[in-house]
Amino acid sequence: MTSQVLEEQKGTGDGRNAQALPVELPLCERAAKWLSEHAPGPKKVVLGTHLEVKAAVWAKILADNGVDVLFVPSNAESTHKDAYELVRSFGIPVAAALDIERGVDKGTFAEVAAFAPTIVFDDGAILIKEVAAKQERFPLVKGCVEFTTSGINEVDKISSWPILDMAWSFCKHEIGNPRGTGESGLSAIMSLTNKSVAGARVGVIGYGAVGRGFANLARQLGAIVYVAELDLKRKTYAHFDGMHVVELPEMLKSCELVITSTGATDTIGKSSFKDLRDGATLANVGCFRNELPLAELREAAISVSRPRPGIDSYHMADKTVHLLKNGELVNISFGGGWPTEYIDLTFALSTLCFGWLHNSRNANNRGIVRVPDDLENLALSWFLERAATKS
Ligand SMILES: NC(=O)c1ccc[n+]([C@@H]2O[C@H](COP(=O)([O-])OP(=O)(O)OC[C@H]3O[C@@H](n4cnc5c(N)ncnc54)[C@H](O)[C@@H]3O)[C@@H](O)[C@H]2O)c1
Repeated sequence: MTSQVLEEQKGTGDGRNAQALPVELPLCERAAKWLSEHAPGPKKVVLGTHLEVKAAVWAKILADNGVDVLFVPSNAESTHKDAYELVRSFGIPVAAALDIERGVDKGTFAEVAAFAPTIVFDDGAILIKEVAAKQERFPLVKGCVEFTTSGINEVDKISSWPILDMAWSFCKHEIGNPRGTGESGLSAIMSLTNKSVAGARVGVIGYGAVGRGFANLARQLGAIVYVAELDLKRKTYAHFDGMHVVELPEMLKSCELVITSTGATDTIGKSSFKDLRDGATLANVGCFRNELPLAELREAAISVSRPRPGIDSYHMADKTVHLLKNGELVNISFGGGWPTEYIDLTFALSTLCFGWLHNSRNANNRGIVRVPDDLENLALSWFLERAATKS
């Protein structure tokens, strides 16, 4: 890898939380021991995920328990410098970062192929799709683990091996997505803007697990929450949660903070862009940078100023709109990502999934496979056991 690539992928994630406290992932420790006992033999795992300090520590725990790890950061913007240095200080190789819009560059692909993985863990399916497209270069792969709902939507045609669906597991979808993203998203936005959401009109676009978690936590903090959603069931859900369920234009005219949590692109399209109110702040906790109207902002801006790092103010003829972290996932690129408890639980379950994929009894499965209940129950029993002894 060239030093230029190394420099580039250190990214702009400012790593404020990195090493603020020693990161402990006790469930991951336990799961990695379980993995070495229940799935003996060589294991080579590509970890394709956001490189912040908790992911770095997970990589080390796996390596300490006999797993060969290659880290592939999900993107340069979310890569925390301190976490990047930390992984390398553990002697774990780090490939050049992926890019959700440009995909896997040639250098990264060559590194992944040379590593000859047995398992691919991915956070958005960019790697899984690339490995599946060139599977003759990956003869040792036994299967993959996909962490995100957007990623799972992308891999439904792949039938080369089993792809364990962490996205819809209970631990990820019911616990991590709503609580982990809600807590870290709100704390990142409030800390970056230096503003409370209490008393503010907050618009949430997309009322899946992530949007629901964010909306409910914002409301508990005193925000007046508006929801725009396409799906009738989820609209109804939002209604009974006490949200103002409105059409997008009404939300944009009313809300001073608008967040996207859809996993879809262009959720505020050309026709709705004009409805954004003067002084609105936009942030993304979903998947794609262009869930937010980036092109429209650039096109309409007469000038752009940066009142502080991480906030770009687009001054237009009739209004100013503030964009946080250029539309990157604000909770990861500014904040430290999910709080440790949620990461520990979901990475521990992912570690158990690696064991399932290494078990030859499961080799005949193909395509998307639901995470087996016995694995999920094992991770949850460890979690509850620990929670009971802490109190
Ligand atoms: N920031 C993070 O740390 C983090 C963590 C977990 C998941 N995610 C991402 O967040 C996104 C949402 O996750 P989820 O589990 O809630 O997914 P989900 O699929 O359950 O929910 C997404 C919702 O958005 C709605 N939607 C889609 N397009 C829309 C549009 N144009 N307008 C309004 N609503 C629209 C859908 O109907 C759906 O209800 C995914 O892309 C996921 O990968 C981010």
